[in-house]
Amino acid sequence: MHKMPSLIAGTVLALSSPLIAGETAETPDQRAEALVKRMTREEKIRLVHGHYPNQMKERPDGVPMSAGYVPGIERLGIPAQRMTDASLGVAAAHQPENPATALPSGLALAATFNPQLALEGGRAIGAEARTRGFNVMLAGGANLTREARGGRNFEYAGEDPLLAGVMVGQSVKGIQSNNIVATMKHFAVNAQEGGRDVINVVIDEAALRESDLLAFQKLHEIADPGAIMCAYNKVNGDYACENKALIDIARKDWGWKGWMMSDWGAVYSTVKAVNAGLDQEMGEELDEWVWFGKMLSKAVDSGALQESQLNAMVQRILRSYFAHGVMDNPVKPGVEPDLAVHADIPLKAAEQGIVLLKNEGALPLSAATSSVAVIGGAANLGVYSGGGSSQVKPRGTILLPPPVPAPVFIRAIYLHPSAPLDHIRKQAGKSAVVYHDGREIAEAVEVARKAETVILFASQFTMEGQDAAMELDGNQDELIAAVASANPNTIVVLETGGAVKMPWLDKVKAVVASWYPGGRGGEAIANILYGKTNPSGRLPITFPASEAQLPNPILPGSLLPRGNEIGNTQPEPFDAFYPEGADVGYRWFARTKAQPLFPFGYGLSYTRFEHSDLRFDAAAWTVRFTVRNIGERSGADVAQVYLAPPNGQSRLVGWARAELAAGAKGAYEVTLDPRFAARFDVATKQWVIEPGLYRLRLATSATDSGQSVEVRLPRQTFAVNWKPTDALAVTGKAR
Ligand code: BGC
Repeated sequence: MHKMPSLIAGTVLALSSPLIAGETAETPDQRAEALVKRMTREEKIRLVHGHYPNQMKERPDGVPMSAGYVPGIERLGIPAQRMTDASLGVAAAHQPENPATALPSGLALAATFNPQLALEGGRAIGAEARTRGFNVMLAGGANLTREARGGRNFEYAGEDPLLAGVMVGQSVKGIQSNNIVATMKHFAVNAQEGGRDVINVVIDEAALRESDLLAFQKLHEIADPGAIMCAYNKVNGDYACENKALIDIARKDWGWKGWMMSDWGAVYSTVKAVNAGLDQEMGEELDEWVWFGKMLSKAVDSGALQESQLNAMVQRILRSYFAHGVMDNPVKPGVEPDLAVHADIPLKAAEQGIVLLKNEGALPLSAATSSVAVIGGAANLGVYSGGGSSQVKPRGTILLPPPVPAPVFIRAIYLHPSAPLDHIRKQAGKSAVVYHDGREIAEAVEVARKAETVILFASQFTMEGQDAAMELDGNQDELIAAVASANPNTIVVLETGGAVKMPWLDKVKAVVASWYPGGRGGEAIANILYGKTNPSGRLPITFPASEAQLPNPILPGSLLPRGNEIGNTQPEPFDAFYPEGADVGYRWFARTKAQPLFPFGYGLSYTRFEHSDLRFDAAAWTVRFTVRNIGERSGADVAQVYLAPPNGQSRLVGWARAELAAGAKGAYEVTLDPRFAARFDVATKQWVIEPGLYRLRLATSATDSGQSVEVRLPRQTFAVNWKPTDALAVTGKAR
């Protein structure tokens, strides 16, 4: 046999092999399949159900009090799943404090309309999760804001499927770039907290595909999440975690290959759930039985389920490990993350996510102001954050008593330790700055009367497990009205989970929505107030003027008597109809011709922008335009592209975030994703662009008339699994 000289053989190998250490020529599917073949029944069962460490009878050494734990299989080199919440940082819902970067809320991140920032945020929190030994992050919350009072709206990315899909997709992609898995959740239509374990959402398939599911589909295309977490609620009669129709959409129609993981305590069966496509029961301590433990094994023995089904479940879990690097680059627990390297991300995110809603010449503030009264909102201590499993508690977090009533797992209101007052003082120059906590209205009014300018902090604490009112907490509306009557120079800074009504709006000079602004929120707020940063956030949700404008003026299920289970007060099972269907948020407002308090996409700046040269190449689905900064400060505009079908509501189909120096102009190109303007045809399972006259609009909000062109589009169809070659082309590029 011919034998090559070894030196040459070595060279040939090095040149021709594209493999690097740890990689093999096999695909993740093949590697997973091979591994499953080596597993015993007991080992397979071990992977398909998992714990909630907080309630484990015996928590093994080294398992932290985080969200989830599934033991590994040492013999086969399969690591334990160590899971942490979630989208806004490495959460410590059950621990006192954490070395963790606290991002601003999901709504704040969405308000940046900056996909790059979402990616960076995801990378940072994923790196921290990894450093601390977590290989699964229960992030990726992308439920659309259907219900303005939803308790978890703050975790998600607003009411628009394109914005939510892109922003959360980028975040999940960033997390997974650390060789860990992220979920996307809560699949699907977990739009409210009230009755989340018993609510049955009734909605037709087309509406679902064109709204919540479209956001998830886009997210999946951007990030390929290793797992999906199915929701607590029922959808059209079946619990989400045993809903074959729903799970098949992700797996069969979209081609998603990860594993379907239940929410904690969201499983109600073995055979039905497995047949529907659920792969893993998580938080089993919260279920009535451990459905996917011995019961599953017995179901296989009895023939009610097949061994091949169990194999497929385990294979999907392992496939995600291989596909995302969990096996090849395993996490090593127990290291303190270096937070300093991420320190700028929450600041940038808060600054870009803060929305200036009103400004009658009051902002930016000048350091020459003689005196400033800062009132309310615990602004001397920190900034508000949202409660529940996503709660990040960085070192120095401040505890306030929880609201009453609240679910048992809400032990306190946690303030992130970035006190606006400190940062206002730093920027206030020679101005005299006084603080009043705002509790006694009459006293606060006296303080306000003596100051040249008032900065009034107003808060709303919202949380998992309980819905909110569209209102500030306590007597703050009264406080604002009284203070503004005493001092017309009143600026209101809102720290809220979502939209609130503003009965005092006409009385105040300026309103700044800072959401929950995260670990450097106080600094970001001061930078905006004093003009160090030019505000550029845009509303990712509509701010309604009243509950009467909502699709459900009365929150579904809220009038039913309540029982008491696992810390949640759940009423009897009930159906919820979401009459808006696919027309979530601003589309509902357009459909009902209701005038919101502030529309989706809205936000002011300290400079002015002009849009021109709008062109739409309908054949290529490409939009081009120019943005000019015609003011005196540099700043960022979010130029929004909406498309109105012949008989439907205008929808966001793309945008470009234009960062421009004073006087500068930029030319942008946005390539649309036609599905966001299409109708989903259930019978033929495809996206349909109906023929007719469409209006394309370049605008500053959902209600701004902006510039528009009319275009006649021919009928076009796109397969259910069609996707654009560049998922992010909708977010524009400079030409
Ligand atoms: C929440 C999930 C979370 C899980 C684990 C559930 O109550 O709905 O979002 O990931 O708990 O903490």
